[in-house]
Amino acid sequence: MCGIVGYIGEKQASPVLLDGLSKLEYRGYDSAGIAVYDGSKINIEKSKGRLKVLSDLIDGGKKLKGTCGIGHTRWATHGEPSDVNSHPHTNKVGNIAIVHNGIIENYMKLKTYLISKGYEFVSETDTEVIAHLADYYYKGDIIDTVIKIINKVEGSYALGIISSEHPDEIIAVRKDSPLIVGLGDGENYIASDIPAILKYTKNVYLIDDNEIAVLKKSGVTLYNTDKEVIEKEVFEVNWDIQSAEKGGYEHFMFKEIMEEPIGIANTVNPIIKQGLIKFDKIPKKLHIVACGSAYHVGVVGKYVIEKLAKIPVEVDIASEYRYRDPLLTEDTLVVIISQSGETADTLAALRDSKKRGAKIFGIVNVVGSSIARESDEVLYTLAGPEIAVATTKAYSTQLTAIYLLALSLAKANGNLSAEEEKAYCDELMRLPDYVSDMIKQKEKIQYYASRFYNSKSVFFIGRGLDYAISLEGSLKLKEISYIHSEAYGAGELKHGTISLIEDGTLVVALATQDALYEKTMSNIKEVKARGAVVLAITEDGHYNIEETSDAVLYIPKTNPLFTPSLAVTLLQLFAYYVASLKGCDIDKPRNLAKSVTVE
Ligand code: F6R
Repeated sequence: MCGIVGYIGEKQASPVLLDGLSKLEYRGYDSAGIAVYDGSKINIEKSKGRLKVLSDLIDGGKKLKGTCGIGHTRWATHGEPSDVNSHPHTNKVGNIAIVHNGIIENYMKLKTYLISKGYEFVSETDTEVIAHLADYYYKGDIIDTVIKIINKVEGSYALGIISSEHPDEIIAVRKDSPLIVGLGDGENYIASDIPAILKYTKNVYLIDDNEIAVLKKSGVTLYNTDKEVIEKEVFEVNWDIQSAEKGGYEHFMFKEIMEEPIGIANTVNPIIKQGLIKFDKIPKKLHIVACGSAYHVGVVGKYVIEKLAKIPVEVDIASEYRYRDPLLTEDTLVVIISQSGETADTLAALRDSKKRGAKIFGIVNVVGSSIARESDEVLYTLAGPEIAVATTKAYSTQLTAIYLLALSLAKANGNLSAEEEKAYCDELMRLPDYVSDMIKQKEKIQYYASRFYNSKSVFFIGRGLDYAISLEGSLKLKEISYIHSEAYGAGELKHGTISLIEDGTLVVALATQDALYEKTMSNIKEVKARGAVVLAITEDGHYNIEETSDAVLYIPKTNPLFTPSLAVTLLQLFAYYVASLKGCDIDKPRNLAKSVTVE
């Protein structure tokens, strides 16, 4: 989604803005732009395409003079990716420039009103109404202007504003869209995400909804919508710069897969050492709500929590859940899973569930994000910053967080003896080593990828937890390699979809669940009989699978509930190598954005 950066200080602003925007590229975008005040007026450069196009246009920033500016990467929503639709947008005379992340839902109404007042629009964007509204409301006080704007607009926004009438200030405000203020020495920053400013400062204000930040070189003042000054704690970011850099790897995705063992260890060890999570009240029912891969973690969660804790679990896609009028009682615990902690639908589902009286348990990676702050209880996944659009290490740590939640609920519910607790915890602590062993198979996986990367369509099948992991394996492959793929419960394929299997169709069959092994074997035989090529994943010992499969990857024997953590690393690497062989833009797949802050 869109990225925002702003800088005010002593340095030339545009190289800092370009650098910050480059750290937000991972969020996904299709155009970029910068506005800098040069001492007498605001100059703007913007262009469709990669940041490199903009950077070349302004000679790496050198061409735009000035020490106060705002920058933006746009992920098109209203209007195609084009130079004119790129941000910043300005009022007619060009003395106010605005960058915006989010969606102004009532922009048509506002646009019609502004047109009736003589305003002319040049772009198709919703954002341009804010630039003209600013012009319309401005009577000499920029804070009053911003307050009037936020009282008028509906939807979500993070805004960065500069005005040549207030040349020594950047104004920023947000609602339902992430925004932070970075605090430097004689310089300050705004950004939609930490990596953009991590190189310059680790001290930030996490701006809350409808808080207005006024940045000067010398300091930052925060106001509420009554124009009263408010105090806020400085939040210290504990990520290091290296964690947000490629560190010699060709792709962030590969680096992040390599970081899975440490992320899992960091997530699991503190909880196990301090004792499992305590529950004051045992929920009677759980709803797990999330989007995309995080939703797939929820599917694993349903199996594991019902098995261990004997508490019924419903799993929902957040964009459906928020509109389906879910039946919540005060005994329902709503588990919200999100890497970014900012996904619009997931955040809305959280807020709606809260209004209905449910308690919220958040599983979140980004510390201080909206979902983390608005949950009643948070279990942080300690994966560190995840830059590749396709999630890998965050997914792996979310899985381990779900195991910790399942064990904690099982204990609270009286379903876990001391011996069982110890056995499960010991096995969880061994997961980082197991995952490292999975990574050691990378050459073999690369070889299999070289055999199968020309596939036109791939089916992932499995039963039980293997089905849950098939969902993620399939998503990973399609999103980065653009090969069509689908996941099916292995027993379900014959109810229609098997008609798509023909000579040479690749089927990735997961058979890691001992109790279901023979059943899945029968399904493998069914697709083989129809010409499929099978890549199987199973546990050590099930060597007879080689008689029916064309390629096999093995995972070591572990508790069957934990096999998803091992199998998924193999599937992530498989997707990675296939995409690499196809020459795809692995870290920034087409059409995708990292932090999906619009509905
Ligand atoms: C897929 C992927 C997405 C996210 C989804 C939710 O690789 O990364 O499906 O899992 O957009 O994002 P978060 O976890 O940030 O809420």
